[in-house]
Amino acid sequence: MSWIVAAVRKIRRAFRPMQEEYRERFSMTLRDWLLYHQRDIVFEKCSWMGVPTLKNPLDAWVYQEIVHEVRPEVIVEIGSAHGGSTLFFAHLLDLVGQGRVVSVDVDRTNYRISHPRITAITGDSADPQVIERVQRECQGQSVLVMQDGGHMKEQVLSDLRAYSGLVTPGSYFIVEDSIVDLFKPGDSLGFAKDGPLAAIEEFLVENPDFVIDAKRERYLLTYNPRGFLRRI
Ligand SMILES: C[S@@+](CC[C@H](N)C(=O)[O-])C[C@H]1O[C@@H](n2cnc3c(N)ncnc32)[C@H](O)[C@@H]1O
Repeated sequence: MSWIVAAVRKIRRAFRPMQEEYRERFSMTLRDWLLYHQRDIVFEKCSWMGVPTLKNPLDAWVYQEIVHEVRPEVIVEIGSAHGGSTLFFAHLLDLVGQGRVVSVDVDRTNYRISHPRITAITGDSADPQVIERVQRECQGQSVLVMQDGGHMKEQVLSDLRAYSGLVTPGSYFIVEDSIVDLFKPGDSLGFAKDGPLAAIEEFLVENPDFVIDAKRERYLLTYNPRGFLRRI
């Protein structure tokens, strides 16, 4: 029996460092995790089908839930960068069997995707010609809008004002990265000036037909606090 005891002790010893490593990891606060994800993951190690995607994967899961429930005919994405998130939405629409993505971005340097459901409009989201083109693409369709372009308050508010009228009742205007208003500059997540959360607050005062859908934040680790705006 003594060899069994010795073997058990040996196994325990071998596993203790691993347990300690995980205990330490799991003692992170939500804030620690958000900073870890921002510093170490989102810009270099997060991808959809091999294309860089600047997303919190838990938010992407919520987008999947919303697309399944709402089944928008058009998803307008303001800010596509490499196109990972644009492709993600196109693939979700493939799965639900309908819909198109209208991608608006002022800079296509890194954009490297194509998909039959995606229409790319290149230009500043505040440019009246861009707004008009998006309006034409959305005419008569059920629409969901994602704002992941410029993150300063004025830019977000301008996009909210210009594009929220396209959102059909029951669908969403999703404002990304309102988390930056909850961190400080130097945290690697904070800005020196007001950002999306401040824009959302102002927009909601002007627009009583949008409400915050807080249940979309139920996984807690969202980059979009108060950013899931449902049109009633
Ligand atoms: C955070 S990245 C988008 C990331 C992408 N949605 C993803 O999840 O992978 C922001 C993008 O917004 C674009 N952008 C910034 N300001 C813009 C504006 N005023 N109009 C259109 N695009 C803008 C930038 O060129 C950049 O590609």
